[in-house]
Amino acid sequence: MRIITAKTKLRNYPIYISSKISQYFPLLIKENFKDSEKIVLVTNNKVFGIYEDKINNILKECSLPYEIVIIQDGEEYKNLKSADYIYRKLIDFNIHRNDIIIAFGGGVIGDLAGFAASTFHRGIKLIHCPTTIIGQVDSSIGGKVVVNYNNIKNVIGSFYQPHMIAIDPTLNYTLDENQIINGLGEIVKYGLVFKKKILEQLSENVEDKKKDRLLELIKTEVFKDIIYDCCYIKTRVVAKDEFDLDYRNILNFGHTIGHCIESAFNLSEINHGMAISIGMIIEIDISISLGLVSEDIKSVVLELYKKLKLPYRIPKIDVEKITGALKYDKKFKTAQNKFVLLKGINKPVFYYNIEKSVIVDNIKKSMYNYL
Ligand SMILES: NC(=O)c1ccc[n+]([C@@H]2O[C@H](COP(=O)([O-])OP(=O)(O)OC[C@H]3O[C@@H](n4cnc5c(N)ncnc54)[C@H](O)[C@@H]3O)[C@@H](O)[C@H]2O)c1
Repeated sequence: MRIITAKTKLRNYPIYISSKISQYFPLLIKENFKDSEKIVLVTNNKVFGIYEDKINNILKECSLPYEIVIIQDGEEYKNLKSADYIYRKLIDFNIHRNDIIIAFGGGVIGDLAGFAASTFHRGIKLIHCPTTIIGQVDSSIGGKVVVNYNNIKNVIGSFYQPHMIAIDPTLNYTLDENQIINGLGEIVKYGLVFKKKILEQLSENVEDKKKDRLLELIKTEVFKDIIYDCCYIKTRVVAKDEFDLDYRNILNFGHTIGHCIESAFNLSEINHGMAISIGMIIEIDISISLGLVSEDIKSVVLELYKKLKLPYRIPKIDVEKITGALKYDKKFKTAQNKFVLLKGINKPVFYYNIEKSVIVDNIKKSMYNYL
């Protein structure tokens, strides 16, 4: 088992990564949560459908009374109504401050259950067991707990660090290909911004044109190393700027436009990693337009995208629907926009006050059928 210690102002916490985590989990609970008397596991109907037996077996081994709360699957359920549902269950189960919420699911469940854990009794124990690649390399780490509101992404939330993260990379094997692509988008971001080796590992371990190549890729040992590296990078970035005041914005490469694409397509028609993949291409195009980097970088990235089946274009849509969502970007001030752009691979740079026409032109360029 590999362990990373995440260091934050609120608390330091361990991240355990192992394909055999279910064997260790009960022991980790007994050792790390001596004061806890009950467990509430929050998951969704899809994940529960796949892992019901596994979940029950692990929880039984923990020797604490437990309850399972099931939320409907989907980004559209990451909202206050679902949080309210969880609060009611926590009250029904008479949950106290020392008791544990386990978020067992992807980023949606992690954000939602984390939000409920952070607010119930002003914060109860939180364990993330991420079951998607996005959850494992990104959303479970760093303490952002949040829900969507009124079709605005991630607008109501806070920072609440978990008490433990348990990552089992084999849980990803049941993801469908779209979800694998979703996670790979985020991993490519780590490669482009922080560690070129990740891009090389991805490229070398994916067989060209083979139908099941992505599933085969995520089953390799190298992919487990990649998960570890991404977790390590994220914990180090968060340790430098836990509250996302400046440096942590670096993780936002591809996300400035990516989040707007998600909003423009009503949050559920296009998944997060896919929107981020397209967002990265548009932000590379903006970097090129501003003379920060040469065209070559784009061809290298597109070559990798092809192998990994990552999307780089969006269906034609009124561009204002995308740029209109920019005003909700947390990095922006009233009169100043802020992007993470690239001066090269692993050379990220913050860039301010980009002219709207540059943004609009590059978004339009990424649309299918745009002449
Ligand atoms: N808090 C953060 O720092 C942070 C960072 C990145 C993303 N996010 C958030 O995370 C969410 C995206 O995460 P996601 O991509 O994991 O989405 P998700 O949670 O919706 O999961 C994607 C799909 O995979 C299914 N699924 C989950 N685990 C599975 C498994 N093991 N096998 C089969 N299917 C499985 C889910 O039911 C869902 O249908 C967004 O809401 C995004 O805003 C948060």
